[in-house]
Amino acid sequence: MVASHGDNFDMTNCHSVFYFNFAISKTSFPVYYKSEENSHQMLDEHLQGTAIQSVDDKSSNGRRFYLESYGCQMNFSDSEIVASILADEGMGPTRQIEEADIILINTCSIREKAEESIRKRLKEFRIYKKRKPELLVGVLGCMAERLKSKFLEEEQLVDLVAGPDAYRDLPGLLRKAEDGDRGINVFLSREETYADISPMRLDENGVTAFISIMRGCDNMCSFCVVPFTRGRERSRSSYTILAEARDLFERGYREVTLLGQNVDSYKWQNPETGEVTNFAQLLDMVAALDTGLRVRFSTSHPKDITDEVLYTMASRNNICKYIHLPVQSGSSRILELMNRTYDRDWYLGRIEAIRRIIPDCAVSSDIIAGFCTETELDHQETLSIMELADYSMSYMFHYSERPGTPAAKKLKDDVDMETKKRRLNEIIRLQNQISHRHNQRDVGMVYEVLIEGNSKRSEDMFKGRNSQNKMVVFDKKPGLKAGDYVRVKIDNSSSATLHGNIVA
Ligand code: SAH
Ligand code: SF4
Ligand code: F3S
Repeated sequence: MVASHGDNFDMTNCHSVFYFNFAISKTSFPVYYKSEENSHQMLDEHLQGTAIQSVDDKSSNGRRFYLESYGCQMNFSDSEIVASILADEGMGPTRQIEEADIILINTCSIREKAEESIRKRLKEFRIYKKRKPELLVGVLGCMAERLKSKFLEEEQLVDLVAGPDAYRDLPGLLRKAEDGDRGINVFLSREETYADISPMRLDENGVTAFISIMRGCDNMCSFCVVPFTRGRERSRSSYTILAEARDLFERGYREVTLLGQNVDSYKWQNPETGEVTNFAQLLDMVAALDTGLRVRFSTSHPKDITDEVLYTMASRNNICKYIHLPVQSGSSRILELMNRTYDRDWYLGRIEAIRRIIPDCAVSSDIIAGFCTETELDHQETLSIMELADYSMSYMFHYSERPGTPAAKKLKDDVDMETKKRRLNEIIRLQNQISHRHNQRDVGMVYEVLIEGNSKRSEDMFKGRNSQNKMVVFDKKPGLKAGDYVRVKIDNSSSATLHGNIVA
């Protein structure tokens, strides 16, 4: 499976949009075409630009907000927190932008193209403001944090700016904006985890949900803007995580994905007992809630994924056998410049441990082509590590320099665009072959699949994922519904989807 994330909602940059097909409507709310093939959880490409809508959309009799989200799954998860905070103030979500009193856009800064697309989208909001001058426009998320008050200077249309740790202040900022004061809060906190806020679920299937377990990132990979936009790493209380998972299960959800930029470094100390919970322990506790609740997690940093985590995964059937373990580059020299703190051998050692401890585990990756000083030899090492790691899928990007990052300050972005794109294409082509091979090996296998809903192709078919996170499409049988587990024998496959039939 091949996908990329974050910025390719800009159709001018659709270098790796092979299997999904989505667009942003120029006139009204974003139109997207959901792909069965895009099964990755952390970087939910097909959702770029999705507007939030709650199930009880009619509940509010007050003002209405329209909230559109971009970027990674953390951002989408944050949008659910924002919706919950606004709903507590009596505001209701709408998917009809024309109905809205407030337009909010939750933004991403990960690559230049991502920011460009958001600027374009902001321009489109002007027309609504012209029609309805009292309409408020707010910018949230990573781009708000990166640009701070510059946003207010550069975009006259914007009434308020709130960074990822400032969402509790949104009602106050909105009140101010109504009084004509353009407001900003981009304070980054060392403590905020929104632990007590019950997110308003954006998901549509009622079967799978995300639980944010930590915020921020302390890693300082030299290319990455996230530590600047999301601040220091902090873990959420394990009690509130467990309570959220339990509540979801009781409401019929059957799969939770524990979310964080680097989940394996999760560490929470109980302030009363001093007891520390690490990620392996948290994973085990969530999985122990019920064997009928699947548990996934994303993202893992190769330096932090311990054998303890791998043994925990192996010990419980309901912890999915799938690890997103971004390599970024196969060259030890480039990895050092990236400040990833592992080298090629360390990474391959982790892959070997995964194969040894969890033989049926699928591994996927993020890869950057054309990082500063990358030579043809470095690039070949990336191609070879992809083969050795046998990724089921990858998210692939060419390097995009981000202002203020260590790489922007210290290294020269010296690989020309043509070379970056050529190398990226070679990476994509290879991943296609590897994914195809990977999926061919599944033909003849029987997998347990959690039904997520109707297949896009036909009302007579269901779609769902196996433990390895591969999308499986199969004919319906009477009496089955979303949220049920079925055993499916795989008959054929493409490089993106498995097709099969239910077996008894
Ligand atoms: N925390 C996660 C990923 C965060 S961003 C992790 O560490 O794996 C998602 C992916 O975007 C990264 O893994 C990286 O491959 C890509 N990325 C981040 N910054 C980038 C940049 N400046 N240019 C190109 N790709 C980038
Ligand atoms: Fe960025 Fe690295 Fe943190 Fe991931 S681990 S968010 S790539 S700094
Ligand atoms: Fe983008 Fe921020 Fe996520 S920069 S990838 S939305 S953490």
